Amino acid sequence: MDKKKAETIRSWEIVFPNDANPQQTMFGGKLMGIMDKTAGIAASRYSKRIAVTASTEAMDFINPVQVGDRIQTTARVVWVGKTSMVVKVDVVAENPLSGERKPCTSAHFNFVAVDKNNHPTKVPPLLVETKEEKQEYRIAEIIKQQAMERKKQIKETESSYKRKIKK
Ligand SMILES: CC(C)(COP(=O)(O)OP(=O)(O)OC[C@H]1O[C@@H](n2cnc3c(N)ncnc32)[C@H](O)[C@@H]1OP(=O)(O)O)[C@@H](O)C(=O)NCCC(=O)NCCS
Repeated sequence: MDKKKAETIRSWEIVFPNDANPQQTMFGGKLMGIMDKTAGIAASRYSKRIAVTASTEAMDFINPVQVGDRIQTTARVVWVGKTSMVVKVDVVAENPLSGERKPCTSAHFNFVAVDKNNHPTKVPPLLVETKEEKQEYRIAEIIKQQAMERKKQIKETESSYKRKIKK
């Protein structure tokens, strides 16, 4: 398979009152859903396959989003394995009157391309050219390695506790 450049996917939303939490700022879970959806579009457009969310990484909410703000979500595949992709997602809130833009959150999402039987299927290798792309690739690689190590350690701990309980 030839190396492929990843495109940046951009989506816009307006924050309505029913998107808010009891503090009248945007509910974090709603924002996570938008991020997951935009990341999924980036992953499936890149792989030309159905892409499922395998796991999500740490998400820090930097600034609250106000009701009435516009939010712009950008997503791009920044690392790929054999069948998996790491998508970096950034969210910026924009005040509709002043136009002031504030970063809200950034996170990495792990996606896996699947075939019609939901089995992982190959994705094209990623073309990484610019300094920024190389930096994002390396950061995503660290995140992906840690995700797999975490999964392995949790599995091992669960099975060791299961063995202890049986005894
Ligand atoms: C994600 C899923 C396809 C992985 O299937 P699996 O049989 O465990 O996958 P494998 O162990 O063969 O690994 C396949 C790839 O997935 C990656 N992967 C598996 N679990 C992962 C996780 N928790 N985080 C990140 N990547 C993961 C592996 O690193 C591997 O990548 P590679 O091919 O690039 O090396 C499977 O667990 C699944 O279908 N989960 C449900 C997904 C879903 O429904 N999401 C929406 C939630 S509502």
